[in-house]
Amino acid sequence: METLKKQPIFIVGLILVILLAVFYFIMPSLVQNQENQKRVEKADSSKQEALAAFDDNNKKATPDNPYKIGLLQFVSHPSLDDIRQGIYDGLESRGYTDGEEIIIEFLNGEGEQSNLNMMSTQLINDGSDMLVGIATPAAQSLQNATQGELPLIMSAVTDPVGAGLVESVEKPNTNVTGTSDALPVSKQIDFIRQILPELKTLGIIYSSSEPSVVQAIKDVESYAEELGIEVRKASISSTNDMAQVAAQLASEVDAIWVGNDNMIASAIETLISATDQYKVPVFPSVDAMVSAGGVGTLGVNQYNIGLDTAAIIADVIEGKDPADYPIVFSVKSDYYINKAKAQELGIDIPQEILDSATDPVAQN
Ligand code: TRP
Repeated sequence: METLKKQPIFIVGLILVILLAVFYFIMPSLVQNQENQKRVEKADSSKQEALAAFDDNNKKATPDNPYKIGLLQFVSHPSLDDIRQGIYDGLESRGYTDGEEIIIEFLNGEGEQSNLNMMSTQLINDGSDMLVGIATPAAQSLQNATQGELPLIMSAVTDPVGAGLVESVEKPNTNVTGTSDALPVSKQIDFIRQILPELKTLGIIYSSSEPSVVQAIKDVESYAEELGIEVRKASISSTNDMAQVAAQLASEVDAIWVGNDNMIASAIETLISATDQYKVPVFPSVDAMVSAGGVGTLGVNQYNIGLDTAAIIADVIEGKDPADYPIVFSVKSDYYINKAKAQELGIDIPQEILDSATDPVAQN
């Protein structure tokens, strides 16, 4: 009886002993395990953070984590539109489709400096990882807004050093790199002389607000001087001046040369209707201005500038640093002749030129 009565106490005691044993021997190892687990988790998450940071700097261009490109175009004219198309197509061919691996926010300044300023700020505030500017004023405005922070790829900037965007074309040493569309000036003048061997006076029309064409104009002047051709220059400060200034210049010269000047490109129709009245041929620098009524050009292929720009954008997304990425000169050029316009002005185009030239009007 005695032992029987004590049995429950014994059992309770035994349970207590077992519980104590559990507490002393098993719990610490459980706690230890948990701590280990925490440490592993912590290691994992810092590894993930590091990986995420790596992705940010290098390849953050997947449909789950698209790379944001803020694209600003100075103004709409057909050449800049061709360049933009080349950028989209070139990126696509490198595996970056807008709306998938990359998201392009595209804004157009419509030629207004105040738009450019506002839009540059907007592209940055919207979280762009990179900025892309088509034409000099767009690239300059983006740089003003980002102040050297975001990578900036410029497209078709004729004089990147003169525009204050890079230190040198071999080594930018800034957040900026991209393409330049420097013109084959002396070849263009040779081309005009092949068509007009009697050329005595050459007019140049340009806009006073675009310093990027200044160098090309100087080159035309010095080459013309070598050839004994007299040069007359006329500038416009807004497209409203075009009709009057163009008519005045056309009355004084045998032919007119036009560089890659955005304001002239935007008012090319007005220029052509003024020069047509004097039967003076216009030799611009791009095919789009030949389509609009220029007689011909040896013009830098605009779409190709866009493709070259896209290759640089892709390289920078993949980790290249703009600071030591040399400027790419897009020099691929072609001969264009507007046969209908030549005929209208009574100009005979030598057969050898016709053989090597495309007619951008017939093509369209
Ligand atoms: N090079 C011009 C700039 O720096 C932009 C440009 C590219 C352009 N293609 C053009 C201007 C054709 C006039 C016509 O701003």
